[in-house]
Amino acid sequence: MNILILGANGFIGSHLSEHILAKKPDWHIYAMDLTQDKLGDCLQHARFHFTQGDMTQKKEWIHEHIKQCDVVLPLVAIATPAMYVQDPLRVFELDFEANLEIIRLCVQYQKRIIFPSTSEVYGMCHDAEFDEEKSPLVTGPIKNQRWIYSTSKQLLDRVIYAYGEHKGLSYTLFRPFNWYGPRLDNVFNPKPGGSRVLTQFIGNILRGENINLVNGGAQQRCFTYIGDGIDALLHIIENKNNCAHNKIFNIGNPSENISIRQLAEMLLEMIPQHYPTYAEQAKAVQLVEVEAKNYYGDGYQDVSLRVPSIRQAQEHLGWEPKMDLSMGLRKTLDRYLT
Ligand code: UGA
Repeated sequence: MNILILGANGFIGSHLSEHILAKKPDWHIYAMDLTQDKLGDCLQHARFHFTQGDMTQKKEWIHEHIKQCDVVLPLVAIATPAMYVQDPLRVFELDFEANLEIIRLCVQYQKRIIFPSTSEVYGMCHDAEFDEEKSPLVTGPIKNQRWIYSTSKQLLDRVIYAYGEHKGLSYTLFRPFNWYGPRLDNVFNPKPGGSRVLTQFIGNILRGENINLVNGGAQQRCFTYIGDGIDALLHIIENKNNCAHNKIFNIGNPSENISIRQLAEMLLEMIPQHYPTYAEQAKAVQLVEVEAKNYYGDGYQDVSLRVPSIRQAQEHLGWEPKMDLSMGLRKTLDRYLT
Protein backbone atom coordinates (compact mmCIF):
# COMPACT_ATOMS: atom_id res chain seq x y z
CA MET A 1 0.00 0.00 0.00
CA ASN A 2 1.21 3.51 -0.84
CA ILE A 3 0.19 6.04 1.78
CA LEU A 4 0.39 9.80 1.40
CA ILE A 5 0.84 11.70 4.68
CA LEU A 6 0.67 15.48 4.55
CA GLY A 7 1.98 16.96 7.79
CA ALA A 8 4.13 13.90 8.52
CA ASN A 9 6.33 15.86 10.91
CA GLY A 10 3.45 16.67 13.24
CA PHE A 11 2.57 14.90 16.47
CA ILE A 12 0.25 12.33 14.86
CA GLY A 13 2.12 12.15 11.53
CA SER A 14 5.50 11.41 13.06
CA HIS A 15 4.18 8.65 15.35
CA LEU A 16 2.13 7.17 12.54
CA SER A 17 5.12 7.12 10.17
CA GLU A 18 7.32 5.46 12.78
CA HIS A 19 4.74 2.73 13.50
CA ILE A 20 3.94 2.02 9.86
CA LEU A 21 7.64 1.57 9.02
CA ALA A 22 8.14 -0.70 12.03
CA LYS A 23 5.01 -2.83 11.71
CA LYS A 24 3.85 -2.87 8.10
CA PRO A 25 6.60 -4.18 5.81
CA ASP A 26 4.50 -3.78 2.65
CA TRP A 27 3.46 -0.19 3.22
CA HIS A 28 5.32 2.75 1.65
CA ILE A 29 4.94 6.30 2.88
CA TYR A 30 5.12 9.41 0.72
CA ALA A 31 5.29 12.40 3.00
CA MET A 32 5.44 16.16 3.05
CA ASP A 33 5.94 18.70 5.78
CA LEU A 34 7.43 22.15 6.32
CA THR A 35 9.96 20.72 8.77
CA GLN A 36 11.47 17.33 9.62
CA ASP A 37 12.77 17.55 13.18
CA LYS A 38 10.37 14.95 14.63
CA LEU A 39 11.00 12.30 11.99
CA GLY A 40 14.31 10.94 13.27
CA ASP A 41 15.22 7.56 11.73
CA CYS A 42 12.20 7.56 9.42
CA LEU A 43 14.10 9.93 7.13
CA GLN A 44 16.70 7.24 6.36
CA HIS A 45 14.17 4.47 5.84
CA ALA A 46 13.89 2.94 2.35
CA ARG A 47 10.08 2.95 2.50
CA PHE A 48 9.83 6.58 3.63
CA HIS A 49 9.89 9.12 0.81
CA PHE A 50 9.98 12.63 2.26
CA THR A 51 9.74 16.02 0.60
CA GLN A 52 10.16 19.19 2.59
CA GLY A 53 7.69 21.87 1.56
CA ASP A 54 4.41 23.70 2.00
CA MET A 55 1.36 21.74 0.84
CA THR A 56 -0.36 24.99 -0.15
CA GLN A 57 2.54 25.81 -2.53
CA LYS A 58 3.73 22.49 -3.97
CA LYS A 59 0.57 21.78 -5.89
CA GLU A 60 2.14 19.74 -8.67
CA TRP A 61 3.79 17.38 -6.18
CA ILE A 62 0.48 17.01 -4.35
CA HIS A 63 -1.44 16.16 -7.55
CA GLU A 64 1.16 13.60 -8.63
CA HIS A 65 1.24 11.91 -5.24
CA ILE A 66 -2.50 11.79 -4.74
CA LYS A 67 -2.67 10.11 -8.16
CA GLN A 68 0.06 7.63 -7.20
CA CYS A 69 -1.07 6.69 -3.68
CA ASP A 70 -3.84 4.41 -2.42
CA VAL A 71 -4.71 6.32 0.74
CA VAL A 72 -4.36 9.99 1.66
CA LEU A 73 -4.00 11.33 5.22
CA PRO A 74 -4.06 15.14 5.28
CA LEU A 75 -2.85 15.84 8.83
CA VAL A 76 -1.93 19.51 8.40
CA ALA A 77 -3.85 21.78 10.78
CA ILE A 78 -3.50 24.34 13.53
CA ALA A 79 -4.86 22.53 16.62
CA THR A 80 -4.08 24.73 19.63
CA PRO A 81 -7.00 26.63 21.22
CA ALA A 82 -5.00 29.82 21.82
CA MET A 83 -4.55 30.12 18.05
CA TYR A 84 -8.29 29.74 17.38
CA VAL A 85 -8.78 32.93 19.38
CA GLN A 86 -5.63 34.79 18.24
CA ASP A 87 -5.69 34.02 14.53
CA PRO A 88 -9.05 32.55 13.47
CA LEU A 89 -8.56 33.41 9.80
CA ARG A 90 -5.31 31.46 9.64
CA VAL A 91 -7.16 28.50 11.19
CA PHE A 92 -9.86 28.82 8.54
CA GLU A 93 -7.35 29.17 5.68
CA LEU A 94 -5.21 26.23 6.67
CA ASP A 95 -7.55 23.85 8.46
CA PHE A 96 -10.51 24.44 6.15
CA GLU A 97 -9.51 25.91 2.80
CA ALA A 98 -6.21 24.11 2.25
CA ASN A 99 -7.71 20.79 3.28
CA LEU A 100 -10.79 21.24 1.12
CA GLU A 101 -8.48 21.29 -1.92
CA ILE A 102 -7.00 17.95 -0.88
CA ILE A 103 -10.45 16.46 -0.31
CA ARG A 104 -11.52 17.57 -3.80
CA LEU A 105 -8.42 15.99 -5.34
CA CYS A 106 -9.30 12.72 -3.60
CA VAL A 107 -12.74 12.94 -5.18
CA GLN A 108 -11.21 13.75 -8.59
CA TYR A 109 -8.76 10.83 -8.49
CA GLN A 110 -11.13 8.53 -6.55
CA LYS A 111 -8.68 7.98 -3.71
CA ARG A 112 -9.51 6.91 -0.20
CA ILE A 113 -9.13 9.71 2.35
CA ILE A 114 -8.61 9.26 6.09
CA PHE A 115 -9.37 12.61 7.60
CA PRO A 116 -8.70 13.97 11.10
CA SER A 117 -11.92 15.32 12.46
CA THR A 118 -11.78 16.26 16.15
CA SER A 119 -13.44 15.84 19.53
CA GLU A 120 -13.96 19.62 19.26
CA VAL A 121 -16.78 19.13 16.70
CA TYR A 122 -19.06 18.12 19.61
CA GLY A 123 -18.36 21.53 21.19
CA MET A 124 -20.37 22.01 24.38
CA CYS A 125 -22.60 19.00 23.77
CA HIS A 126 -24.36 17.96 27.00
CA ASP A 127 -24.38 14.20 26.34
CA ALA A 128 -22.67 12.10 28.98
CA GLU A 129 -20.88 10.28 26.12
CA PHE A 130 -20.42 11.76 22.66
CA ASP A 131 -21.82 9.47 19.99
CA GLU A 132 -20.79 9.82 16.32
CA GLU A 133 -24.31 9.10 15.07
CA LYS A 134 -26.52 10.69 17.70
CA SER A 135 -24.89 13.53 19.58
CA PRO A 136 -25.70 17.12 18.67
CA LEU A 137 -22.76 19.36 17.77
CA VAL A 138 -23.07 22.47 19.95
CA THR A 139 -21.01 25.61 19.54
CA GLY A 140 -21.27 29.15 20.92
CA PRO A 141 -22.00 32.54 19.36
CA ILE A 142 -19.85 33.84 16.50
CA LYS A 143 -17.93 36.26 18.71
CA ASN A 144 -16.55 33.23 20.56
CA GLN A 145 -13.90 32.44 17.99
CA ARG A 146 -12.78 29.39 19.93
CA TRP A 147 -15.27 27.49 17.82
CA ILE A 148 -13.80 28.36 14.41
CA TYR A 149 -11.67 25.21 14.55
CA SER A 150 -14.64 23.09 15.59
CA THR A 151 -16.90 24.49 12.88
CA SER A 152 -14.21 24.36 10.17
CA LYS A 153 -13.68 20.70 10.94
CA GLN A 154 -17.41 20.07 11.23
CA LEU A 155 -18.11 21.52 7.80
CA LEU A 156 -15.31 19.43 6.29
CA ASP A 157 -16.83 16.34 7.95
CA ARG A 158 -20.15 17.21 6.34
CA VAL A 159 -18.52 17.89 2.94
CA ILE A 160 -16.64 14.59 3.04
CA TYR A 161 -19.80 12.76 4.03
CA ALA A 162 -21.70 14.41 1.14
CA TYR A 163 -18.93 13.52 -1.34
CA GLY A 164 -19.23 9.96 -0.06
CA GLU A 165 -23.00 9.93 -0.61
CA HIS A 166 -23.07 11.74 -3.95
CA LYS A 167 -19.68 11.27 -5.67
CA GLY A 168 -18.53 7.89 -4.40
CA LEU A 169 -15.71 9.21 -2.20
CA SER A 170 -14.28 6.52 0.04
CA TYR A 171 -13.44 7.99 3.46
CA THR A 172 -12.94 7.45 7.16
CA LEU A 173 -13.20 10.28 9.69
CA PHE A 174 -11.40 9.84 12.99
CA ARG A 175 -11.89 12.07 16.04
CA PRO A 176 -8.96 12.18 18.45
CA PHE A 177 -9.91 12.91 22.07
CA ASN A 178 -6.99 14.73 23.70
CA TRP A 179 -4.25 12.48 22.35
CA TYR A 180 -0.97 13.04 24.18
CA GLY A 181 2.50 11.60 24.28
CA PRO A 182 6.08 12.35 23.36
CA ARG A 183 6.52 15.03 20.65
CA LEU A 184 3.11 16.65 21.32
CA ASP A 185 4.56 20.16 21.64
CA ASN A 186 7.98 21.47 22.54
CA VAL A 187 8.14 21.77 26.34
CA PHE A 188 11.53 23.47 26.35
CA ASN A 189 10.82 26.16 23.80
CA PRO A 190 7.26 27.35 24.38
CA LYS A 191 5.67 29.46 21.65
CA PRO A 192 2.62 31.63 22.28
CA GLY A 193 -0.38 29.51 21.37
CA GLY A 194 1.89 26.56 20.75
CA SER A 195 1.00 24.14 23.52
CA ARG A 196 -1.79 21.83 24.61
CA VAL A 197 -2.46 21.63 28.33
CA LEU A 198 -0.20 18.68 29.14
CA THR A 199 2.91 20.11 27.51
CA GLN A 200 2.06 23.54 28.88
CA PHE A 201 1.99 22.15 32.42
CA ILE A 202 5.18 20.09 31.99
CA GLY A 203 6.93 23.21 30.67
CA ASN A 204 5.63 25.30 33.59
CA ILE A 205 6.99 22.78 36.10
CA LEU A 206 10.42 22.49 34.43
CA ARG A 207 10.78 26.26 34.55
CA GLY A 208 9.43 26.51 38.13
CA GLU A 209 6.55 28.71 36.93
CA ASN A 210 3.08 28.71 38.42
CA ILE A 211 0.44 26.60 36.66
CA ASN A 212 -2.59 28.48 35.39
CA LEU A 213 -5.88 26.67 35.92
CA VAL A 214 -8.22 28.30 33.44
CA ASN A 215 -11.59 29.01 35.10
CA GLY A 216 -10.48 26.93 38.08
CA GLY A 217 -9.55 23.70 36.28
CA ALA A 218 -12.72 21.68 37.03
CA GLN A 219 -13.23 21.02 33.30
CA GLN A 220 -12.50 17.42 32.35
CA ARG A 221 -10.79 15.69 29.45
CA CYS A 222 -10.27 12.04 28.50
CA PHE A 223 -6.55 11.87 27.83
CA THR A 224 -5.63 9.25 25.24
CA TYR A 225 -2.11 7.92 24.72
CA ILE A 226 -0.72 8.41 21.21
CA GLY A 227 0.20 4.71 20.92
CA ASP A 228 -3.47 3.77 21.34
CA GLY A 229 -4.47 6.40 18.78
CA ILE A 230 -1.94 5.08 16.27
CA ASP A 231 -3.14 1.52 16.85
CA ALA A 232 -6.66 2.65 15.86
CA LEU A 233 -5.28 4.44 12.81
CA LEU A 234 -3.45 1.30 11.63
CA HIS A 235 -6.76 -0.61 11.76
CA ILE A 236 -8.43 2.20 9.84
CA ILE A 237 -5.75 2.31 7.14
CA GLU A 238 -5.73 -1.49 6.86
CA ASN A 239 -9.52 -1.45 6.46
CA LYS A 240 -9.89 -5.22 6.74
CA ASN A 241 -13.19 -6.35 5.15
CA ASN A 242 -13.97 -2.67 4.55
CA CYS A 243 -14.50 -2.25 8.31
CA ALA A 244 -13.70 1.49 8.25
CA HIS A 245 -15.35 2.32 4.95
CA ASN A 246 -17.33 5.59 5.09
CA LYS A 247 -17.44 5.60 8.87
CA ILE A 248 -16.71 8.05 11.67
CA PHE A 249 -14.80 6.94 14.76
CA ASN A 250 -14.25 8.60 18.12
CA ILE A 251 -10.77 7.58 19.22
CA GLY A 252 -10.44 8.32 22.89
CA ASN A 253 -10.09 6.80 26.32
CA PRO A 254 -13.39 7.16 28.22
CA SER A 255 -11.99 5.64 31.40
CA GLU A 256 -9.20 8.24 31.75
CA ASN A 257 -11.51 11.17 32.36
CA ILE A 258 -9.89 13.64 34.74
CA SER A 259 -10.09 17.32 35.55
CA ILE A 260 -7.39 19.73 34.45
CA ARG A 261 -6.66 20.42 38.14
CA GLN A 262 -6.12 16.69 38.74
CA LEU A 263 -3.77 16.57 35.76
CA ALA A 264 -1.69 19.38 37.27
CA GLU A 265 -1.64 17.59 40.64
CA MET A 266 -0.54 14.29 39.06
CA LEU A 267 2.36 15.99 37.29
CA LEU A 268 3.41 17.86 40.43
CA GLU A 269 3.58 14.55 42.24
CA MET A 270 5.26 12.56 39.48
CA ILE A 271 7.96 14.93 38.30
CA PRO A 272 9.86 15.42 41.60
CA GLN A 273 9.45 11.72 42.43
CA HIS A 274 10.85 10.33 39.17
CA TYR A 275 12.94 13.17 37.71
CA PRO A 276 14.86 14.65 40.69
CA THR A 277 16.71 17.12 38.44
CA TYR A 278 13.46 19.10 38.37
CA ALA A 279 12.42 18.61 42.03
CA GLU A 280 13.44 22.11 43.12
CA GLN A 281 11.55 23.77 40.28
CA ALA A 282 8.47 21.61 40.95
CA LYS A 283 8.45 22.62 44.62
CA ALA A 284 8.23 26.27 43.64
CA VAL A 285 5.10 25.77 41.49
CA GLN A 286 1.70 26.94 42.73
CA LEU A 287 -1.67 26.28 41.18
CA VAL A 288 -3.26 29.59 40.27
CA GLU A 289 -6.85 30.04 39.12
CA VAL A 290 -7.17 32.41 36.16
CA GLU A 291 -10.14 33.65 34.20
CA ALA A 292 -10.28 32.43 30.62
CA LYS A 293 -10.43 35.95 29.21
CA ASN A 294 -7.22 36.86 31.01
CA TYR A 295 -5.47 33.70 29.80
CA TYR A 296 -6.75 33.34 26.23
CA GLY A 297 -8.30 36.78 25.60
CA ASP A 298 -11.88 37.42 24.52
CA GLY A 299 -13.52 34.83 22.35
CA TYR A 300 -12.64 31.75 24.39
CA GLN A 301 -15.32 29.36 25.59
CA ASP A 302 -14.83 25.89 26.96
CA VAL A 303 -16.45 22.48 27.25
CA SER A 304 -16.67 21.09 30.77
CA LEU A 305 -17.06 17.38 29.98
CA ARG A 306 -15.85 15.55 26.86
CA VAL A 307 -16.23 11.79 27.00
CA PRO A 308 -16.22 9.67 23.83
CA SER A 309 -18.45 6.74 23.17
CA ILE A 310 -16.07 4.24 21.56
CA ARG A 311 -18.76 1.73 20.63
CA GLN A 312 -18.18 2.22 16.88
CA ALA A 313 -14.44 1.69 17.17
CA GLN A 314 -14.91 -1.39 19.37
CA GLU A 315 -17.47 -2.90 17.04
CA HIS A 316 -15.95 -2.16 13.64
CA LEU A 317 -12.22 -1.89 14.31
CA GLY A 318 -11.98 -4.25 17.29
CA TRP A 319 -10.10 -1.40 18.98
CA GLU A 320 -9.89 -0.31 22.59
CA PRO A 321 -7.40 1.94 24.38
CA LYS A 322 -4.92 0.03 26.53
CA MET A 323 -2.70 2.63 28.17
CA ASP A 324 -3.75 4.07 31.52
CA LEU A 325 -2.98 7.71 32.23
CA SER A 326 -0.28 7.29 34.86
CA MET A 327 1.68 4.88 32.66
CA GLY A 328 1.17 7.10 29.59
CA LEU A 329 2.37 10.15 31.50
CA ARG A 330 5.46 8.27 32.67
CA LYS A 331 6.28 7.26 29.10
CA THR A 332 5.77 10.82 27.93
CA LEU A 333 7.85 12.33 30.73
CA ASP A 334 10.61 9.76 30.14
CA ARG A 335 10.90 10.84 26.52
CA TYR A 336 10.90 14.54 27.38
CA LEU A 337 13.07 14.50 30.51
CA THR A 338 15.62 11.68 30.32
C1 UGA B 1 -8.00 20.41 22.14
C2 UGA B 1 -7.49 21.12 20.91
O1 UGA B 1 -8.50 21.89 20.31
C3 UGA B 1 -7.00 20.14 19.89
O2 UGA B 1 -5.69 19.74 20.23
C4 UGA B 1 -7.85 18.91 19.67
O3 UGA B 1 -8.57 18.98 18.48
C5 UGA B 1 -8.80 18.56 20.76
O4 UGA B 1 -8.94 19.41 21.85
C6 UGA B 1 -8.41 17.19 21.29
O5 UGA B 1 -7.21 16.95 21.45
O6 UGA B 1 -9.29 16.41 21.60
P1 UGA B 1 -8.57 21.37 24.50
O7 UGA B 1 -8.82 20.03 25.10
O8 UGA B 1 -9.39 22.47 25.06
O9 UGA B 1 -8.73 21.35 22.95
O10 UGA B 1 -7.03 21.76 24.57
P2 UGA B 1 -5.93 22.08 25.64
O11 UGA B 1 -5.22 23.30 25.15
O12 UGA B 1 -5.11 20.88 25.84
O13 UGA B 1 -6.72 22.50 26.98
C7 UGA B 1 -7.37 21.58 27.80
C8 UGA B 1 -7.98 22.33 28.97
O14 UGA B 1 -6.94 22.84 29.81
C9 UGA B 1 -8.82 23.55 28.60
O15 UGA B 1 -9.97 23.58 29.41
C10 UGA B 1 -7.94 24.74 28.91
O16 UGA B 1 -8.66 25.90 29.24
C11 UGA B 1 -7.14 24.22 30.08
N1 UGA B 1 -5.81 24.86 30.25
C12 UGA B 1 -4.93 24.94 29.23
C13 UGA B 1 -5.46 25.32 31.51
O17 UGA B 1 -6.25 25.24 32.48
N2 UGA B 1 -4.23 25.89 31.68
C14 UGA B 1 -3.33 26.01 30.67
O18 UGA B 1 -2.22 26.54 30.90
C15 UGA B 1 -3.69 25.50 29.40
